[in-house]
Amino acid sequence: MSELLPLQDLFKKRVVLMTGKGGVGRSSMTAALATLAQRRGVRVLICDIGDDPNDYSPLARHFGFDRLPVHAEVIVPGIRGSVLLARSGQELFLKSVLRSGTLARAALSSDALRRLLSAGPSFKEMGVFFQLLTYLRAKRKDGSPEHELVLIDMPATGHTLSLTGLPELLLRLVPRGPIAAALREGQSYLNDPKLGAAWVVAIPETLPVSECLELLEGLHRTGMPIGGVLMNRVPLDPFSAAERAALQSPLERINPLGAEGFRRPVLARREIARLRQGTKLSIIEVPELPHPGLISALADALEREGQAR
Ligand SMILES: Nc1ncnc2c1ncn2[C@@H]1O[C@H](COP(=O)(O)OP(=O)(O)OP(=O)(O)O)[C@@H](O)[C@H]1O
Ligand SMILES: [Mg+2]
Repeated sequence: MSELLPLQDLFKKRVVLMTGKGGVGRSSMTAALATLAQRRGVRVLICDIGDDPNDYSPLARHFGFDRLPVHAEVIVPGIRGSVLLARSGQELFLKSVLRSGTLARAALSSDALRRLLSAGPSFKEMGVFFQLLTYLRAKRKDGSPEHELVLIDMPATGHTLSLTGLPELLLRLVPRGPIAAALREGQSYLNDPKLGAAWVVAIPETLPVSECLELLEGLHRTGMPIGGVLMNRVPLDPFSAAERAALQSPLERINPLGAEGFRRPVLARREIARLRQGTKLSIIEVPELPHPGLISALADALEREGQAR
């Protein structure tokens, strides 16, 4: 039996968390994967996590908007979008427990309850978690999922682990009742390797690769299935091995401006080799690309890499 290619596998999931340290390309990669999903006819929803519905969203920028809608809707043909907000999720949760939107809004307008919900970080995560669950549950008239694939542009490493670790943590405190039921249902998507995966975006440099290995370890600890690593911004090497050998010693002697660029592809290969030593997961390499048309070029590169393996 042949194993699924890693990217084909990604498009078969219901929920994928795009994680990684700041600035490595999580948002660009989320946008590129959504573009690829749209090309393949997968009903995709992209989400980022926000504190305020008015916050600017770099993910939305890739599609020509300043922010993603508060409730999931089509943003470009074939791609839906939504910002996951703690408050929207808390309202949805109260609505499902109290079975009334009016009561939920009334409850949330109480100052005391609002202060309580925004004080505990777990309450915030619970809101985000519940809104995500609502999108995963949503069905079309024919019973098929409204959002076949939910791609989430996660904010930062620590936040990812708080979200993936949330069910374990809260279920110990509240093992029964509606919160526990929602957490277990969320876990049934996120922690099932057939339905959920985290992909770690990294770049081939020393610190980011070390942080990527730590994040993989952390995700593993929280029981989150991991799809693999998207190694972004791999510099193309314009030199052959013979050219490198010939240039090596004069460059070392003179150390001119630009010598860093000469060394970069070699350092990148070394860091990718170090990552391969540290994990058996799939590593998909994505090249450094020019900025104009970045997202569709990234989608093309991912498609080629996904077919090459
Ligand atoms: N393969 C690539 N080639 C060239 N530039 C890239 C590539 N991938 C991402 N970039 C650029 O790198 C920068 C950071 O990318 P992006 O915003 O996607 O990262 P991020 O991980 O979401 O960052 P943040 O932590 O700020 O959310 C952007 O300017 C983006 O255009
Ligand atoms: Mg981003």
